[in-house]
Amino acid sequence: MKKKYLIGNMKMNMDYSHLEPYFGDLARIADNSNNVVGVCVPYVYLELAKYMLDGTKVLYGAENMYHEDSGAYTGEISANMLNDFACDLVIVGHSERRSYFHESDLDVNKKIKKALDSGLTPIMCFGETLEERQGNMAFSVVEKQLMGGLQGLEYDEVSRIIFAYEPVWAIGTGVSATSDQAEEMIAFAKRIIAENFGVKETIVLYGGSMKPSNAEDLLSKPSIDGGLIGGACLKIDDFEKIINVKVE
Ligand code: 13P
Repeated sequence: MKKKYLIGNMKMNMDYSHLEPYFGDLARIADNSNNVVGVCVPYVYLELAKYMLDGTKVLYGAENMYHEDSGAYTGEISANMLNDFACDLVIVGHSERRSYFHESDLDVNKKIKKALDSGLTPIMCFGETLEERQGNMAFSVVEKQLMGGLQGLEYDEVSRIIFAYEPVWAIGTGVSATSDQAEEMIAFAKRIIAENFGVKETIVLYGGSMKPSNAEDLLSKPSIDGGLIGGACLKIDDFEKIINVKVE
């Protein structure tokens, strides 16, 4: 059975008092799982994540970072700072960053380069909006995001990135993409990455309303290597069910 990657994205949720038991439970769940388990948390909880998860099987990290090393960038956090907390992962280019904070493909590209240079594993998100899908532009939008985000990167660098296809219309809406829609787009993304960068074994996750009731269907598709899970990662019981989904 191929290992799947199940990574939580807490977004701006949770609080300190809930996180202590949560991290403890997650470490135990990961220990009993053959899948790769991870969680990306708000910056301010990275110290607790390091204390409770460093040395366990859980990969952890941040939900964003800035591409500069240091300087007058009020409110920003650098890759070096994430390394102070022994982070494994950093999400880059989430659609919420792209839409609410106007992050461009060029911003995503700079962040990916810095994350890789700093030894972090970027989780690069991409995905189309509902209007783009309805306008038959989903594939061209995804291709543009991938080529823009990866420009100038070499084979060795691209092969260290985890990707996440997150159709904007499926995020936080309760309406997941169908497993066929997700499979089709992820297979397409893998083809683009293979053709342009020569990387044939890319890890691409699906994100957007993944939950215990649809995880098995999504994760059993051949191109879908795992999930980036928002809402359903906040309840440890739901996240556990997704982590423990058995697929052939
Ligand atoms: P939901 O699982 O809440 O739809 O969020 C998905 C997501 O954006 C993960 O990054």
